[in-house]
Amino acid sequence: MISGKKILIGITGSISAYKTITLIRLLVKKGADVRIVITPAAKDFVSPMVLSTFSNHKVYQEFVENDIWENHVILGRWADLFLIAPASCNTISKMATGLCDNFLMATYLSATCKTVIVPAMDEEMWLHPSTQNNIKTLASYGNDVIEPREGLLASGLIGKGRLPEPEELVTILEESYCRSNELAGKNILITAGPTEELIDPVRFITNRSSGKMGFAIAEVLYLLGANVKLVSGPVSIETKYKGIQIIEVQTAKDMFEICREEQEKFDIGIFSAAVADYTISHPENEKIKKKDENLNISLSKTKDILGSMGELKRKDQKIIGFALETNNGEENAISKLKNKHADLIVLNMLNSDNDVFNNDFNKVSFIESNENIIHFNTASKKEVALKIADYIISNWK
Ligand code: CTP
Repeated sequence: MISGKKILIGITGSISAYKTITLIRLLVKKGADVRIVITPAAKDFVSPMVLSTFSNHKVYQEFVENDIWENHVILGRWADLFLIAPASCNTISKMATGLCDNFLMATYLSATCKTVIVPAMDEEMWLHPSTQNNIKTLASYGNDVIEPREGLLASGLIGKGRLPEPEELVTILEESYCRSNELAGKNILITAGPTEELIDPVRFITNRSSGKMGFAIAEVLYLLGANVKLVSGPVSIETKYKGIQIIEVQTAKDMFEICREEQEKFDIGIFSAAVADYTISHPENEKIKKKDENLNISLSKTKDILGSMGELKRKDQKIIGFALETNNGEENAISKLKNKHADLIVLNMLNSDNDVFNNDFNKVSFIESNENIIHFNTASKKEVALKIADYIISNWK
C-alpha cells in the first residue's frame, strides 16, 4: 500500500513537469510521505513554492541553502522509492555517466532504494541512439524505466514521448513498487456482481448489483500482497490492477462451476456476488413473441455457491459470505452464517439509510462465527474492504 511509503520525486526540465503537481496531490492523498528534489532547469517549468505547498515539505534545490549544507546522502537513504519524473534527455545522459553537477544528481548517486525513471521528451530525442543507449545503461545499473506514452507532444507533433498521466503513474507505483506483504502467499477467491439468467437470446433476469464492493475487496487484498482471483458477473466496472486475475461469467451455473474448480486452491473465499437464486427452467433458443395476455415462466433453484463452498471447506480454509437484507437483518444473517458454514457474514441492510446499490458507500456489520456482532458506521466501499482485510489479518493470518 502507498500509505506510509517514503517517496522521493526528482523533477527535471521538461514541459510535462506540470503533471507532477497532480501526481504529488494523489500520492499525498493516499498517505504517502513525499519529498521533492528538482534540477535548476525544472524551475522554468514548475514552481518550487507550489510543489512545497502540496507535498507539505521544502523542495530540495541546491547543495547549500541559507548557508546550510543540504545532506543529499541522508535524503537518498531516506526514500523507499526514488521516482525521477519527468526525466529529461539531459538528466538521463548525466545519470548514465554519473555526472554530478546538481543536487538531484548527487541524491540519485547516493540513493540506496530502487530508482524508477520516467522519461519525457520529443520523439526524436527519445529514439536517438544516444538516449536509447543511456536508457540501456541505466537499466543495466538496476534502475527501472517506465517508457513514455504516445500522443500529442509539446512540439505539436504526435509521437512517443509523453509522461504517463498522474493517475496511471500512481497505479504503476501501487502495483509494482508499493504492494505490502501482510497477505503475501494467500490465495483468495472472490465473487462479485450479479448473474444473468437467460429467458431467451434477448432477455434475462438478474439482481441489482454494481460489483463495486467485490472489486474494492479484490483491490485492497491484492495491494496487501494476496494472489487474487475475481469471478465476476456482468458489470460495467473494471480494475486498473493487471495482477488481479478476473474470470468473467454470466450465469449462476457458470459462477458455480468456476468456484467449484477453484475450491481446493483458495485459502480464503469471499462470496459477495448477488447470485440469482432461481434460473429459467427452459430458456428459449428463439426470441419469445408476444401472443397471450399472460406469460408464465418456470424457474428452478440455482446451486448455492457459498453454501456448497461451506460444505466442502477444509479446516485451513476460511469463508466470508454477504447478506443483503431488508428486514430482520441480524437474525437472517445468523441463519446464513450457520446454514452456509461461513466463518464471517458481512451484513448490509437495504433501507432509506443505506442505499447500497446507488452509491459508493455502505453501512455494514460483521457477524462472527460465534455470532458476535461488530457494527460499523457508514463508510466508502474501499473502507469496508479495508475492514474486511483487517479482520482477515488479525484473525486468520
Ligand atoms: N449466494 C451464493 N449462491 C447463491 C445465492 C447466494 O453464493 N445461489 C451467496 C451470496 O453471494 C451471499 C450469500 O450467499 O454471500 C447470501 O446471499 P443472499 O442473497 O443474501 O441470501 P440467499 O442465500 O440467496 O437467501 P435469501 O435470498 O432468501 O435471503
